[in-house]
Amino acid sequence: MSPDMTAPILVTGGTGQVASALGAAGGDSVHVVGRPTFDFDRPESLVAVFRQAAPWLVVNAAAYTAVDAAEDDAEAAYRANRDGPGALAQLCAAAGVPLIHISTDYVFDGAKGVPYVETDATAPTGVYGASKLAGEQEVLAVWAHTTVLRTSWVYAPTGKNFVRTMLRVGAERDRLRVVADQRGCPTTAADLAAAILAIASLLRAGWRDSYAGVFHAAGSGETTWHGLAVATFEAAARFGARVPVVEAITTADYPTKAKRPADTRLDCSKLATVFGVRLPDWRGSLARTIDTVFAGG
Ligand SMILES: NC(=O)c1ccc[n+]([C@@H]2O[C@H](COP(=O)([O-])OP(=O)(O)OC[C@H]3O[C@@H](n4cnc5c(N)ncnc54)[C@H](OP(=O)(O)O)[C@@H]3O)[C@@H](O)[C@H]2O)c1
Repeated sequence: MSPDMTAPILVTGGTGQVASALGAAGGDSVHVVGRPTFDFDRPESLVAVFRQAAPWLVVNAAAYTAVDAAEDDAEAAYRANRDGPGALAQLCAAAGVPLIHISTDYVFDGAKGVPYVETDATAPTGVYGASKLAGEQEVLAVWAHTTVLRTSWVYAPTGKNFVRTMLRVGAERDRLRVVADQRGCPTTAADLAAAILAIASLLRAGWRDSYAGVFHAAGSGETTWHGLAVATFEAAARFGARVPVVEAITTADYPTKAKRPADTRLDCSKLATVFGVRLPDWRGSLARTIDTVFAGG
């Protein structure tokens, strides 16, 4: 089926980091919806939005993302991360519209010791990761024309994220303690949005079976939360920001409600092979993000 060239890409996730970045990068080709208009807790809102938008592609960037809160609110997490996406996939299937669904590195337990590939066994350590894994399985079971993109450590110049927290707390304190034994691949929402739009342009040319399934889509390179904090302050120092001492601590020194996986580095070669898409190295993307923060963006 050839897509209607005037139809939009429907992006869920409202004012979330990834949805906002898609809205900014996609311009008129993208129609972003969020709560209260589009709410997984009100299934009828999905039908109304889908009918009104009549998209050629759906990108689901809406999710329950509060990792610790999910431990006490599993029902809401599963509604937003499994049941809602499943219902959205059904609407896509009925209309023959492909779906790009965003998932997470937290589907893994972090014990592998080298970067994860898509075929590695999953074993989430908390409710958030378990609900996201259930969501992946649901959308893939419902609709064959679904691309799942697992990303990690997402941040942006605005919104609630680690980099922004570091900048805020670093401006107030001389000394910070940051976990140095969790490794991963930082990803800017802007880089992920650009990757999604590049994938969308391939989908637009026609669906291929190789597009179906799970793909890892994270920033290139790797670091720890401590490494990301230090690099954040280095980049911010270019704008005269004060640089606190960043003390390296262990996960055991910083207990959280939800257990975090120790090492969720993602091998993103499949994304490069199938779609020709590789996200930029995290250091350059961090510098660009800090530039935007200090430019008032
Ligand atoms: N952030 C990360 O570090 C990270 C890492 C790996 C993967 N991911 C995945 O990347 C995707 C995008 O994440 P993000 O960082 O952009 O998240 P975000 O900034 O927290 O945005 C999530 C959006 O989802 C919306 N939402 C929450 N519950 C909903 C519901 N029941 N119905 C409809 N919308 C709902 C939120 O709406 P409100 O604004 O109204 O609350 C928010 O706009 C998600 O699939 C997430 O799991 C994120």
